[in-house]
Amino acid sequence: MHTFLAADDAIEPLAGELGGADMEGVWLRSENLPAHLAFARQTLPRARRVEAASVNAWADQILQSIVGVLPEEGTWRLHLWPAYGEGRAGEHRCRLIRSALVEKLKKQRRALMRCQEESQEPFTRSTSLVQAVLTSPGSGLLSVSAAPEPHELRSIISAYPAGHITPAEDKTAPSRAFAKVIEAEMRLGRRIMKNETCVDLGASPGSWSHVALLRGAHVTAVDRSPLRADLMRHPRLHFHQGDAFKFRPPEPVDWLLCDIIAAPQRSMDLLLDWLRARLMRAFIVTIKFKGTDEYGQLDTLKQNAPPLCADFRLTRLCANKNEVCAFGIAARE
Ligand SMILES: C[S@@+](CC[C@H](N)C(=O)[O-])C[C@H]1O[C@@H](n2cnc3c(N)ncnc32)[C@H](O)[C@@H]1O
Repeated sequence: MHTFLAADDAIEPLAGELGGADMEGVWLRSENLPAHLAFARQTLPRARRVEAASVNAWADQILQSIVGVLPEEGTWRLHLWPAYGEGRAGEHRCRLIRSALVEKLKKQRRALMRCQEESQEPFTRSTSLVQAVLTSPGSGLLSVSAAPEPHELRSIISAYPAGHITPAEDKTAPSRAFAKVIEAEMRLGRRIMKNETCVDLGASPGSWSHVALLRGAHVTAVDRSPLRADLMRHPRLHFHQGDAFKFRPPEPVDWLLCDIIAAPQRSMDLLLDWLRARLMRAFIVTIKFKGTDEYGQLDTLKQNAPPLCADFRLTRLCANKNEVCAFGIAARE
């Protein structure tokens, strides 16, 4: 059985994606391990329940779960987080467990020493992941995912503990929507780079363009309405007024950014059209919902987008409301 942590307000949608699951609050258990789960925040493969009365017992349990299981080569990470209580007590307990584990590791074989303590870089093929969740001070879940599994399942296993990213703040952006681009970049492990070319569809008032311009990119912004005045004057921004669904760039661009308010099927079809026509190298596309009835439409995207991509992700971002974000890298040939 595998354990999944549901994204905010997404327990039922996640159960639907899993084809049924045992539910315990935000934790869902299922034997299925689908390639894409838009409504999961984190996946804990083969998680088992643990009873550990003390800090020392927790450290022992974690140590026992990895000795002889993690590969001799490569690095590993420990995601250790509390999922109980309101205050700081859980975080404090996790810090103590981590310190106790580090002491125990010093007496272990060299392979176990290669723990990347705080890294949130994308998983490589040689990264292993150990996840320990305290659902109470003395009990929780423990999952060991030996390399290359975290990399191979990177669309459902997050490099961020509990899959959580606090939405970014930027008071100079025209709206809070900019946090979606930043979070998608972080999850993908690839940022918009200086001199790259971006098409931003549904760009007004301009937060996504604002991020791309800050990164040094050249932006074609498409909307029926203009962007904020300072962005309209920016030397690296070209504004195209019109229907974003009809716009096609004269030559392929580095990034398709798309945050159009539209029916989900239209946004998904737009993404698939651009991928099939090889119009972009990377993409971040918001799929917006009214209510919950249309979530099932994501199945078409889960089937059709991955063969067109080197890396395809579909997830409800921490910065998303009733939306899901499709982002990734297009296939080269
Ligand atoms: C959520 S807003 C985009 C916010 C923007 N990403 C930002 O960060 O500031 C959606 C935008 O889609 C635009 N839009 C909706 N349908 C459109 C269409 N067919 N063509 C062009 N723009 C469209 C709206 O005018 C609106 O500005």
